[in-house]
Amino acid sequence: MNNIFRRTFFVLISIVLVSSALMKNNVQAVLAPQSQETLDPVINPIDYLVLVNKENPLPETWEDVVEIVHMTNSLGDDVEVEKKAYDAYLKLKDALAEEGVFIDLDSAYRSVAAQQQIMDDFTERYGEDYVKQYVAVPGFSEHHTGLALDLYLNIDGVDVYMNEDMVQYPEIWAKIHSKLPEFGFILHYLEGKEDITGYSYEPWHIRYIDNVELANEITEKGLTLEEFLTK
Ligand code: DAL
Ligand code: ZN
Repeated sequence: MNNIFRRTFFVLISIVLVSSALMKNNVQAVLAPQSQETLDPVINPIDYLVLVNKENPLPETWEDVVEIVHMTNSLGDDVEVEKKAYDAYLKLKDALAEEGVFIDLDSAYRSVAAQQQIMDDFTERYGEDYVKQYVAVPGFSEHHTGLALDLYLNIDGVDVYMNEDMVQYPEIWAKIHSKLPEFGFILHYLEGKEDITGYSYEPWHIRYIDNVELANEITEKGLTLEEFLTK
């Protein structure tokens, strides 16, 4: 009798211990991703290789985790940029200034509403054909990430920021483009790759990827981000 009692007791204790271990694991499996990944931007850093283009909209949770800083450019405009991208931009700007090339930030992070405003303004000024080549549909702009930066030039003390004026200085853009990878940037809308990116060549639109090694590889191979990510 004593033996039967001891065995039954042992079996019951085992069942209780195993069940509680299983429950604990299940609870952790359900709770861990939610508490760590969705609520804490330090634990869940943004994906600096994110692809936002005509086929891929901004990821839904992006704006919950991205850290945006403000700066004022030489024109007095407030420009918002993802924090690490801005730090890297300042280093790029200093390095270029040492070579006599002066850049400033025209536009970086844009909300969907801001992109709509740009689309409306550009449609009025340049027409629909131009807009299809140069302006993303709201929700599908890389600028929503805060990682795409539109530069403008300062040449002999004069700010040059209109697209049609900026393209007159290919030799200055070449100097700028050669410095991009060193600071974790690539040029996204490459000349000759319009079929792949869906946009015309934009020498002013640089993209931060937070990885000097990959930026060097992408640039040396002459790839777009689309090509690099699908290789
Ligand atoms: N100029 C790029 C394509 C944009 O509007 O996002
Ligand atoms: Zn741009």
